[in-house]
Amino acid sequence: MQKKISILKLKKNKSKIICLTAYSKNIASIIDKHCDIILVGDSLGSVLYNFSSTKKVTLDMMIEHSKSVRMGVKKSLMVVDMPHNTYRNSKEALKNAKKIISITKCDAVKLEGGKKVLQIIKTLISNKIQVMGHLGVLPQSATSFKFKGKNITERKKILRDSKLLEKVGVFSIVLECVESSLAEEITKTIGVPTIGIGASVHCDGQVLVTDDLIGLNEINARFVKKYSNIKRHINNAALKFKQDVIKAKFPLKKHSY
Ligand code: KIV
Repeated sequence: MQKKISILKLKKNKSKIICLTAYSKNIASIIDKHCDIILVGDSLGSVLYNFSSTKKVTLDMMIEHSKSVRMGVKKSLMVVDMPHNTYRNSKEALKNAKKIISITKCDAVKLEGGKKVLQIIKTLISNKIQVMGHLGVLPQSATSFKFKGKNITERKKILRDSKLLEKVGVFSIVLECVESSLAEEITKTIGVPTIGIGASVHCDGQVLVTDDLIGLNEINARFVKKYSNIKRHINNAALKFKQDVIKAKFPLKKHSY
């Protein structure tokens, strides 16, 4: 794991870092060879469970999905989101991060926030837990999903937070919906890789929710590019199955005992 993190850090300013989300073994095993990082994101709350926000995602949900993902990840660094209300103080964060890591065998955890969670992140890192930061739009506490970095105060705060996170030792920072020139400034300023989602091409790497990129999840966000229409394929397969069953073309002798 330490080696994977060193390789990631070495990629800064050299080659782009590829990160995608996975919530299950099957998806993880398909994307693993193309990724540097596979993130079990708490976005699973809205993508799979139709929650209105990620706030309702529980530690048990993250652990169960991560156990499945672990079976599909062979080469990528596996990062698991610590869900809302599981890191309100250092003691709680340490207990829950240890639980996630010991049960799921993931390589690292991700926490949202800057100065507010600095002491908590420091505690995790001093206990040899690898931490990924997350700045910009913070879905666990956001009241608005508008991009960040519109005004000077907001820009200064995010830049300051990125420096603080680097200082306490995060190995990478997700920048979510951060204005392009600010994402560029942060990426040039800090020594650890930035992974953007809606944060421009200037970041050291990019992350997308896999269900969005394959067209399985209905989403209309500017930062998503749909690379496939998997819904159409599933629909066609289900339709063909239905037709075969109705016409008694399935199962054939070769499918029977
Ligand atoms: O929860 C998630 O999937 C995330 C990514 C969008 C970065 O945090």
